[in-house]
Amino acid sequence: MSQTLRVGIAGLGTVGSSVVRLLDRQSKALASRTGREIKVTAVSARDRNRDRGIDTSSFKWFDDPVALAKSPDIDLFVELVGGAEGPAREAVEAALAAGKPVVTANKALLAKHGMQLAALAERTHAALAFEASVAGGIPIVKTLREGLAGNQIDRVYGILNGTCNYILSRMELEKLSFDECLKEAQTLGYAEADPTFDIGGFDTAHKLAILSSLAFGTAVDADAIHVEGIESITLADLEAAAELGYRIKLLGVAQRTAKGIEQRVHPTMVPLSSSIAEVMGVTNAVTIDADAVKELTLVGPGAGGEATASAVVADIADIAKGVRSTPLGLPVASLDHSPRLPMQRHEGGYYIRLSVFDRPGAAAAIAMRMAERQISLESIMQRTRPGRRSPVTALDRVPVVLLTYATSESTIREVLEAVVKDGYIAEKPQVIRIERE
Ligand code: HSE
Repeated sequence: MSQTLRVGIAGLGTVGSSVVRLLDRQSKALASRTGREIKVTAVSARDRNRDRGIDTSSFKWFDDPVALAKSPDIDLFVELVGGAEGPAREAVEAALAAGKPVVTANKALLAKHGMQLAALAERTHAALAFEASVAGGIPIVKTLREGLAGNQIDRVYGILNGTCNYILSRMELEKLSFDECLKEAQTLGYAEADPTFDIGGFDTAHKLAILSSLAFGTAVDADAIHVEGIESITLADLEAAAELGYRIKLLGVAQRTAKGIEQRVHPTMVPLSSSIAEVMGVTNAVTIDADAVKELTLVGPGAGGEATASAVVADIADIAKGVRSTPLGLPVASLDHSPRLPMQRHEGGYYIRLSVFDRPGAAAAIAMRMAERQISLESIMQRTRPGRRSPVTALDRVPVVLLTYATSESTIREVLEAVVKDGYIAEKPQVIRIERE
């Protein structure tokens, strides 16, 4: 058996503590699989005295993660601090600059600085591994980069944020409020330190930026992603979707089209019959459309200590074995920098929920605006309160839900502007895109 691999871990939160436990629990199996003993020898975290349910007494303690990253006491640096800037970035850069392999779960860091970090890793011949950064325990990085190397990938899409999927599932199934569901997700350790990253769609966007680069051989470009979160989704939308044969999911979608590559994150109506619609709770799912394999869906736990630790440990094991992958699948200089398709040019079906003043001519005016722009309607649903016979005042409202056939984002935006100007609408229209399998 060759030399022990000495691992230094920065960040001993939910994931870091789970990595320490998992390496310990699987130490024998990992040693026989990799031919080396893998041992945590040093750690860095903010509070030395916090009870994490792990014994840290044998580890060398560093208050500064950058000092740990540079330390000659470790052969591999694991970054679980989080955040795109500050100590996480400095420590990863320091380790790579010293030619030391890095394993990280930090999607925000990779989405923002992935290109520079991959270039630095190339220059110093250091490994940069990040399986845990996307979809928790699902081995999606390896699947795209190595497993599907013989395919042309046309679309990669999925549920990439466990917190949002947990919230949408609990709201729909248990009729709980948004805030109650978010609190539960926080208590369960799924949410980011700042949960705006989850519910605002930014965490999904960070992960999508990584997947898109791996799938299409393009530069990581998180700024080109259209991002919408789930804050505006109400129980009324979840119920209307179910009546129409759909379920609402926060999806990240990266798609090759004839006009360019689309990258978008938004609440999405998926058919109830689709496999992605059945994915509930903290579970993530990623579907890949590719020429040879056709369609492949990977489903698994997207957040939580053990699941994410599973991916971190897989990367550590690869490095222990000497398996070396080009971080983004291609050398950085070969990645395609073509601009991404703007959201205005997206084409697809739309769900539109309007709060309409209950007056004669309102529905006809809305339908006319749609017809003027050649928007064809798949379905129209108007629900009046049970027992209500006719509007009492001119300000009475009624929810009207429309499903359109395929049209463009710019056409939908124009038509809704016209509908709002006509004065029949009481609130900002709710718009949710439909994604077909
Ligand atoms: N907050 C993230 C989620 C953690 O809910 O999916 C995993 O990246």
